[in-house]
Amino acid sequence: MICVVQYLASLVILLILSSSTLGYYNEFDGGIPPEFGKLINLVHLDLANCSLSGPVPPELGNLDKLDTLFLQTNELTGPIPPELGNLSSIKSLDLSNNALTGDIPKEFSGLRRLTLLNLFLNRLQGQIPPFIAELPELEVLKLWHNNFTGVIPAKLGENGRLTELDLSSNKLTGLVPKSLCLGKKLQILILRINFLFGPLPDDLGHCDTLWRVRLGQNYLTGSIPSGFLYLPKLSLMELQNNYLSEQVPQQTSKIQSKLEQMNLADNRLSGPLPASIGNFSNLQMLLLGGNQFTGKIPSQIGQLKNVLTLDISRNNLSGNIPSEIGDCPTLTYLDLSQNQLSGPIPVHITQIHILNYLNISWNHLNQSLPKEIGSMKSLTSADFSHNNFSGSIPEFGQYSFFNSTSFIGNPQLCGSYLNPCNDSSISPLQLHDQNSSRSQVHGKFKLLFALGLLVCSLAFAALAIIKARNIRRNSNSWKLTAFQKLGFGYEDILECIKENNIIGRGGAGTVYRGLMPTGEPVAVKKLLGISKGSSHDNGLSAEVQTLGQIRHRNIVRLLAFCSNKLSNLLVYEYMPNGSLGEVLHGKRGGFLKWDTRLKIAIEAAKGLCYLHHDCSPLIIHRDVKSNNILLNSDFEAHVADFGLAKFLRDTGTSECMSAIAGSYGYIAPGTNPLCL
Ligand SMILES: *[C@@H]1O[C@H](CO)[C@@H](O)[C@H](O)[C@H]1NC(C)=O
Ligand SMILES: *[C@@H]1O[C@H](CO)[C@@H](O)[C@H](O)[C@H]1NC(C)=O
Ligand SMILES: *[C@@H]1O[C@H](CO)[C@@H](O)[C@H](O)[C@H]1NC(C)=O
Ligand SMILES: *[C@@H]1O[C@H](CO)[C@@H](O)[C@H](O)[C@H]1NC(C)=O
Ligand SMILES: *[C@@H]1O[C@H](CO)[C@@H](O)[C@H](O)[C@H]1NC(C)=O
Ligand SMILES: *[C@@H]1O[C@H](CO)[C@@H](O)[C@H](O)[C@H]1NC(C)=O
Ligand SMILES: *[C@@H]1O[C@H](CO)[C@@H](O)[C@H](O)[C@H]1NC(C)=O
Ligand SMILES: *[C@@H]1O[C@H](CO)[C@@H](O)[C@H](O)[C@H]1NC(C)=O
Ligand SMILES: *[C@@H]1O[C@H](CO)[C@@H](O)[C@H](O)[C@H]1NC(C)=O
Ligand SMILES: *[C@@H]1O[C@H](CO)[C@@H](O)[C@H](O)[C@H]1NC(C)=O
Ligand SMILES: *[C@@H]1O[C@H](CO)[C@@H](O)[C@H](O)[C@H]1NC(C)=O
Repeated sequence: MICVVQYLASLVILLILSSSTLGYYNEFDGGIPPEFGKLINLVHLDLANCSLSGPVPPELGNLDKLDTLFLQTNELTGPIPPELGNLSSIKSLDLSNNALTGDIPKEFSGLRRLTLLNLFLNRLQGQIPPFIAELPELEVLKLWHNNFTGVIPAKLGENGRLTELDLSSNKLTGLVPKSLCLGKKLQILILRINFLFGPLPDDLGHCDTLWRVRLGQNYLTGSIPSGFLYLPKLSLMELQNNYLSEQVPQQTSKIQSKLEQMNLADNRLSGPLPASIGNFSNLQMLLLGGNQFTGKIPSQIGQLKNVLTLDISRNNLSGNIPSEIGDCPTLTYLDLSQNQLSGPIPVHITQIHILNYLNISWNHLNQSLPKEIGSMKSLTSADFSHNNFSGSIPEFGQYSFFNSTSFIGNPQLCGSYLNPCNDSSISPLQLHDQNSSRSQVHGKFKLLFALGLLVCSLAFAALAIIKARNIRRNSNSWKLTAFQKLGFGYEDILECIKENNIIGRGGAGTVYRGLMPTGEPVAVKKLLGISKGSSHDNGLSAEVQTLGQIRHRNIVRLLAFCSNKLSNLLVYEYMPNGSLGEVLHGKRGGFLKWDTRLKIAIEAAKGLCYLHHDCSPLIIHRDVKSNNILLNSDFEAHVADFGLAKFLRDTGTSECMSAIAGSYGYIAPGTNPLCL
């Protein structure tokens, strides 16, 4: 459409300016009509994004009043005609995103009024001609993604006007010119993916206008210019994959940093991390991996209140992990692997409620793994391997998700994944008395063990007898946990579990409707696939305990939990109007008015918001979909089925969960587009 309008506009100009060339469109066959060259009064020609193919007609060079020539985003081929160098009035020339070949014509030295030259995304080659640096008005030069070779013109920027320079993804060598910011106007400097070498000019450390800097993947050496990282407007700083060395300079100015992303990874930076790193209060991504940093991680790291990704891996940092790291509330990705860090994991780390990835492998960390990490619900990937941890691996909460490779290389660590814990290995006796008392201890344990065995077998025998007696009455004893005052007992709940009470079936289980003796209707959900053959329930009852405490108007209330060895029953308040999914798509569906829909959306959002932000501990829903939003008799929305998704992963209900693992902090709160 835009293209059609542009064409119409061009046609009108054509008609007004030159009535003698009406026949042009007969020859129009996907290329730019050479007749445009006859419109000698044309000031503005915009044919961008018009699916034009063929060459750029040399006749366009006749348009010496032309101020703007936009031919970008077409399929133009062939070389840039040297005749365009005759466009003596041209200010903006954009030929980007075509398939143009050849060099920049030397005739372009005549474009004395040029302020913008965009030739990116073509197949141009040869040198960037030195005269480009002498175009007096040039402000924007974008030549990225071509095959330019040679050096960047040394005088580039000497005109004092340059604001934007992007020469990335070429084959440029040589130095970064000294005068790029001479006019103190440079805002964007992008030279990534080239073969540039030598030091960065010191001048850049005073270029207060700089906003985006991307110099990664070159061969730059020397130190980072002082002040460069602390420029007042800087938002993005990329220097990764170079050979920059020496220390990261301290901040000397008193300016509040706006920096959001800093990537200094894979250089040869050394020395300690500066304490002023904490001044980057807007930083969201900090990548410092693959350098030679030494010393401690500064505690000021805890001042990074907006940081999402923090990677200091593959350095030579020592000392403890500062507990202040737990003060970074938005951290989702933390990689401290391959350093010389020692001491324990600070338990304070569990303060980070949305941490998703934790890698502290290949350090010298010791002591036991804090069991509190098990309650970090967002943590889907953790790597503790190749340290000096001892004791047993907690089997609680999130720990049951971690891969066994997360724990290897800790000779003194034991647990279900690795070598099973010997009774003696967790005994403090053994840790202290390495030597002499060991055999005695062993002897004592053997005796104790034998006695224990005897007691156990007696107990088992007794139990078996009791069980055999009970078996006729009730195969298993039921345990009822009430989360509020109930007017019913477990018998009433079991009474509901009948085929003709079923109101829903899903991967997670079957839902039954029931009427309690008090007259109160309830929904009973019988969970499937929980007991994985073992006696313990992998933390389900602890989890349910938490869920039972939640009280919110837009969250389905869990009234009680009823379980025995084989079954787990959750008793919820009853929602007469069923699920939103049913109402929208089911047989009775489609009658919801728009204002009701809006009300439901807002209420569901309030419920989710409560779970994700206000609950303590936070509950991440993990399975938001219309079927999990229930409606009461007034069509008020209630969020259901939260918090248990991870216990149901064998049943196929939450395939989407594994798909989002690894990007937790980035998904919209509680929503999972894959599941909607
Ligand atoms: C080009 O035009 C198409 C269709 O009109 C539009 O979808 C697309 O965004 C345009 N691209 C650019 C770079 O303007
Ligand atoms: C236009 O450019 C061509 C080739 O660069 C040149 O030969 C010609 O003299 C120029 N014409 C004018 C009018 O400047
Ligand atoms: C650059 O040149 C190489 C080798 O001739 C070619 O493979 C590549 O596609 C070219 N790249 C561009 C952007 O033209
Ligand atoms: C930055 O950090 C340094 C060292 O921690 C401190 O002296 C300085 O005042 C800080 N500047 C700002 C603006 O916070
Ligand atoms: C790391 O530090 C240790 C001592 O702290 C030193 O022996 C080693 O050479 C350092 N490694 C590097 C790559 O700097
Ligand atoms: C943790 O870091 C180590 C070394 O940097 C790496 O080999 C390993 O794959 C990482 N672990 C995970 C789970 O990403
Ligand atoms: C843990 O490591 C530190 C430093 O390497 C050491 O001083 C401490 O004794 C170690 N603690 C244990 C329990 O091994
Ligand atoms: C683990 O700790 C022991 C004793 O404290 C020490 O000798 C050993 O070097 C440590 N190993 C690592 C990999 O830090
Ligand atoms: C554990 O991690 C390894 C390597 O990261 C992977 O190949 C393996 O499939 C994982 N195992 C499980 C059970 O996830
Ligand atoms: C457990 O005992 C076995 C045999 O006594 C021993 O080889 C193994 O190292 C012990 N494991 C731990 C974690 O102490
Ligand atoms: C451990 O026993 C060996 C000999 O069995 C002895 O040489 C060594 O001194 C003892 N070490 C300690 C810490 O008792």
